Amino acid sequence: MRILVINGPNLNMLGIREPDIYGKNTYKDLCDKIEKFAEENNVEVELYQSNYEGDIVTKIQQAYKVFDGLVINPGAYTHTSVAILDAVKAVGIRTCEVHISDVNTREPFRQISYISYAAEKSFIGLGFDGYTEAIKYLIGA
Ligand code: DQA
Repeated sequence: MRILVINGPNLNMLGIREPDIYGKNTYKDLCDKIEKFAEENNVEVELYQSNYEGDIVTKIQQAYKVFDGLVINPGAYTHTSVAILDAVKAVGIRTCEVHISDVNTREPFRQISYISYAAEKSFIGLGFDGYTEAIKYLIGA
C-alpha cells in the first residue's frame, strides 16, 4: 500500500504560525509522526509540501497509478481551489481530507471545502492525529 500525503501552503510553518490554533509542534514533528505510524503499519508513505497550487496539481497527476491513497491538507487552497479538486477527480485515487484545526467553527470562508467533493472522508480538528487517522482509514486498519 502506497500513500501520498500532501500538505499545502503554510503547513511548513507549523510550530511558528498561529500556535494557539495549530499548536507548537513543527512540520518536521508532523512528518516524523506520519513516518513512524507508516513504518509500524507497513505502509509506504511519501510526504510532499508545497506553497504552489500548480505544483500540487502536478504532484497529484503524477500520483496516477503510483499511489493507492491520498491524504491531503490543501491549507487555504481547500477553500478556493477547483484545480486541486479536479486533479483528485482526474486520477481517481481514494482520498481523505485533513484539517488540523476545526475549520467548521472558524471564519465562514473556511467552511467551504472544494476538496471535500472528492474526499471519501474528512478528518477535521483532530490536530496531527487527523493524518494518522486518515491513513488508518485508507488502509482499513
Ligand atoms: C487548515 C485550515 C485552513 O483554513 C488554513 O488555511 C490552513 C490549515 C488546517 O489544517 O486546519 O492553512 O487546512
